[in-house]
Amino acid sequence: MDDSKTTQVISDAVARLYNTYPFPPEPILDEAPPGYNWRWYWPTVHNFCTGAAPISNKVRVLDAGCGTGVSTEYISHLNPDAEVLGIDLSERAIATATQRCQSSGATNVQFRQLSIYDVDQIEGEFDWINCVGVIHHMPDPLKGLQALATKLAPGGFIHLFVYAAIGRWEISLMQRAIALVQGSQRGDYRDGVQVGRQIFATLPEGNRLKQRERDRWAMENQRDECFADMYVHPQEVDYTLDDLFKLIDASGLEFVGFSNPEIWQLDRLLGQDLVLLDRAKQLSEKDQYRLVELLDPEITHFEWFLARPPYPHQTWEDDTTLLAAVPTRNPCMEGWPSQSIFDHNYQIISLEQKEFEFLQACDGQAPTLGGDRPPATVSDLLSQSGLSLEDVRQLHQRQLILLHVPQHNP
Ligand SMILES: C[S@@+](CC[C@H](N)C(=O)[O-])C[C@H]1O[C@@H](n2cnc3c(N)ncnc32)[C@H](O)[C@@H]1O
Repeated sequence: MDDSKTTQVISDAVARLYNTYPFPPEPILDEAPPGYNWRWYWPTVHNFCTGAAPISNKVRVLDAGCGTGVSTEYISHLNPDAEVLGIDLSERAIATATQRCQSSGATNVQFRQLSIYDVDQIEGEFDWINCVGVIHHMPDPLKGLQALATKLAPGGFIHLFVYAAIGRWEISLMQRAIALVQGSQRGDYRDGVQVGRQIFATLPEGNRLKQRERDRWAMENQRDECFADMYVHPQEVDYTLDDLFKLIDASGLEFVGFSNPEIWQLDRLLGQDLVLLDRAKQLSEKDQYRLVELLDPEITHFEWFLARPPYPHQTWEDDTTLLAAVPTRNPCMEGWPSQSIFDHNYQIISLEQKEFEFLQACDGQAPTLGGDRPPATVSDLLSQSGLSLEDVRQLHQRQLILLHVPQHNP
């Protein structure tokens, strides 16, 4: 079979899996979904990638491989000024996504059954592409990523998520075991789920695969859609960190950073020995990531942003620039207003009184022009607060505030 035929056969098998088990199997609501994920909110994506909030929220967004539209629905509701398009191979996934967004009243979104390989059929470019849990299911992930790269506007960002090989070792063994037992019935996904569940039920207590499933995945895998997505997939490429960077280098896009940066801090693994930590931190950035990958076999996926240069980068190191910035409270928090809140990562944090007051002071500020009075700058707010400039930098680094570069009337 030539390459294009193989690609088609595999893509058909993948579409069949998701037509049988559309993913994710979240219920359809008749209102906007609760909560947030900062990776689905353009101002925080832009802030993460460039250091500053965007000038405009009128962006064009592609949710590539949107599945049943859970992320697409969030993106639409969280970004009402955006124009959102969701595409997917699976007809049933697209039908569910469409129904989901209609039911919850997301009006700024459209869906189309289309392969990522064929994105050239879509007109124009996108400021932001979300592609989570998809390219590792493509027969040629690099080709898929390169296709998406052609649709990314200069200064645009793409968020990706692929599986990590080391942390999915037990899963990979089980996938192969199920396929072996299925034999010629491989491709019958319902049979695959049944065989997989039988094997888990039969394996002796203490068996490593059984234990791993029970400790880590069993809750979500109660749903057959999740079990099938994990164990009976017809196409999955798992990445080591080295493979990941080969993929990134070949994409023609620039690595911005992991979108779960706390996982990639050596401090959480070696922080008990400051001398050793210091020695490890002499390594190159990539080798530090490699070390984390080796020392933490729990890492089951990579998630990261790529950019199409050029794009701005604001460090806020310069005091004058920071004083002139307009701060707004990051809306990706739960429990506000209170000094005990869930932050952008859904971690409970306690705010000091002066931090709380600063957040209150910049709450609800619209950093746009045209209001009755200009929004307060960091300088304005510091004069009424006990915070220092360094404290403001910390609030920004902790993603509690977004900083807007002041825009001047022409
Ligand atoms: C694991 S699901 C992820 C769904 C969604 N992105 C999420 O995170 O909830 C993978 C989805 O990618 C879609 N997919 C796989 N290959 C694709 C391709 N070549 N083009 C478009 N979608 C594809 C599948 O149909 C499936 O709905």
